[in-house]
Amino acid sequence: MSCLGELALPLIGAPMFLVSHPELVLAQCLSGIVGAFPSLNARPADQLHAWLAQISRTLALAREEAPERRIAPYAVNLIVHSGNPRLEGDLAACIEFKVPLVITSLSSPGDLVRRVHAYGGRVFHDVISVRHAEKALSEGVDGLILVCAGAGGHGGLLNPIAFTAEVRRFWGGPLVLAGTLTEGRHILAAQVMGADYAYMGTRFIATKEAQASPAYQQAILEARAADIVYTDHFTGIPGNYLKAGILAAGLDPGHLPARGEKPDFGKTAAGEPAKAWRDIWGAGQGVGNVSDVPGVEELVTRLRREYEAAKSRV
Ligand SMILES: Cc1cc2nc3c(=O)[nH]c(=O)nc-3n(C[C@H](O)[C@H](O)[C@H](O)COP(=O)(O)O)c2cc1C
Repeated sequence: MSCLGELALPLIGAPMFLVSHPELVLAQCLSGIVGAFPSLNARPADQLHAWLAQISRTLALAREEAPERRIAPYAVNLIVHSGNPRLEGDLAACIEFKVPLVITSLSSPGDLVRRVHAYGGRVFHDVISVRHAEKALSEGVDGLILVCAGAGGHGGLLNPIAFTAEVRRFWGGPLVLAGTLTEGRHILAAQVMGADYAYMGTRFIATKEAQASPAYQQAILEARAADIVYTDHFTGIPGNYLKAGILAAGLDPGHLPARGEKPDFGKTAAGEPAKAWRDIWGAGQGVGNVSDVPGVEELVTRLRREYEAAKSRV
């Protein structure tokens, strides 16, 4: 059994700003893979209580009704940063609801780890460098998520083989690989490289349960890896975005000023100022392998089939 319990697949549905809401998370957990959402998606802040109550109640009921069914735990993503005024309140809600897995990103989690461990929860920290991995481990995290080159959101620059190999030299515990994974054989590839779990974001934007507009989903279906722009222009942190959203905001994706200059977000078709993530869509280089918008259950069934087929093929 994995450290996250009996899963249908060693897979975590990655938390995505604006995209991951309870509908997506519940569909992922009920399909047997870990579902996750950033706490900041619950707005206003007290909405987080309602979401946690809904998710924990629905999963508990489903487990009661079918004890033999593989229902995965859920995770909440907390952005650890001095610029996140909600961190303390959102952590308090996670403690109150005993959220099984807390995924921390940006800065290392520090004292948060002790507070999550106190109720029996686990903390996985998301990193883009070996130095950050070492720091998070020194603070007692239970698992690492290696966010590699081409990943959607604030992706890193390291190659997954090099990154996994280097971290495995000093860390034998739970390891998650992220970046451009979109099909069942990629989950097996992550395991073969030394990870325990795969982490998929972009693939789940194109699902029926995702909170993504039809235009965003269509842009994902049409995009190829070459249509992904890596820039720190919009948030000050390098990230991967769809060219289509940048163009629609009237900006030139080839000439975005670097960090330090005043970011220009362009305008929406309605003439309003465009917003990062809502109009400037995030996505990873795996887009070129996404060509439909299935329901989550159908997608997980397909991923399982592909994973098993890849296992027997190799
Ligand atoms: C639209 C979008 C929003 C994201 N928002 C967050 C976030 O709020 N917090 C976070 O830790 N990671 C965020 N990520 C990164 C994902 O959790 C994950 O690392 C990434 O999607 C994995 O790469 P993939 O998209 O190539 O599968 C986001 C990714 C995308 C595509």
